Amino acid sequence: MTKVLLLLNMPEQLRNRFHGYLARTFPQVAFDLADNVGKVDPYLADAEILMTHGPYLSTRSDYVLGHMPQLRWVQGTGTGMDNIIDRPSLPADVLVTNMRGAHGPQMSEAAIGSMLALARQMPRSIRNQDNHIWERWLPQIIHGKTVGILGVGVIAEALAPRCKVLGMTVVGFSSSQRVIEGFDRILPVGELKPTAPDLDFLVLLTPYSEATHHIVNEDILMALKPGSYLINLARGGVLDEAALIKVLDAGRVSGAALDVFSTEPLPPEHRFWSMENVIITCHMGGLTDDYHLQALPIIEKNLRHYLAGEGDQMINVVRKAA
Ligand code: GLV
Repeated sequence: MTKVLLLLNMPEQLRNRFHGYLARTFPQVAFDLADNVGKVDPYLADAEILMTHGPYLSTRSDYVLGHMPQLRWVQGTGTGMDNIIDRPSLPADVLVTNMRGAHGPQMSEAAIGSMLALARQMPRSIRNQDNHIWERWLPQIIHGKTVGILGVGVIAEALAPRCKVLGMTVVGFSSSQRVIEGFDRILPVGELKPTAPDLDFLVLLTPYSEATHHIVNEDILMALKPGSYLINLARGGVLDEAALIKVLDAGRVSGAALDVFSTEPLPPEHRFWSMENVIITCHMGGLTDDYHLQALPIIEKNLRHYLAGEGDQMINVVRKAA
């Protein structure tokens, strides 16, 4: 019997939807479910398929991948495959697929929600509400402002036209140059620093890799328009977090909305937690109450092809088995 290890460190309701649907749909397959990477050891020896997300593997990724002798396929439950595809212990003969294409709408909503929350100082309103304080200020308007989007993929393609509807100028930064509806301009990534003084918001969507490690460094942050805002929906490692704290403390950048961190969960003692100009969400930009409807058809299709020996028809292939 084919054995699948589901390591799904996502909200319980979604985890159960994934597991329940797959177990019902594929009675010929054995699914072992773990909600935390600390609980996977009993299942590693036999699993031929691993369905998970890089951040769920945390610091145990090399251990887990290195202890799965039967492993033939990793299906990502998200789009970014960092902490899997880049691990030395991932054998070359393992196929890797992801969830590309599922995240455009919700990540756009997360980005726009973040821009609005920062510009309107929503956390300040909520803090005041908790204390029954009536205080008014001038919320900033995002209409007429310029947003830079670092990383122009499927998600940015969904975000850009939505920003246009809100009356923003949209500038993409991408290693590949093309014309995409919704963008006023798409520039090479090397243009980020010279363009940074024009940006009111910088939204990070670029995948994490060695090449993008700390791509948003102190130089870029210092070059941003004074009073601008940073939104990180990509990966913590894309951003030099210590440099961000510095520019926030200095008031160079007015605020940040961070959904991802170089260490997740964000340690309780981390400075970010106590910074009033930082909005923290817990790596859930890509998740929604409908996520199973977006993700399960991709997984189902791939699993059917895999079981039928039709590897060549599997979709969202990030890396073929060598
Ligand atoms: C979310 O983190 C994703 O990579 O899809």
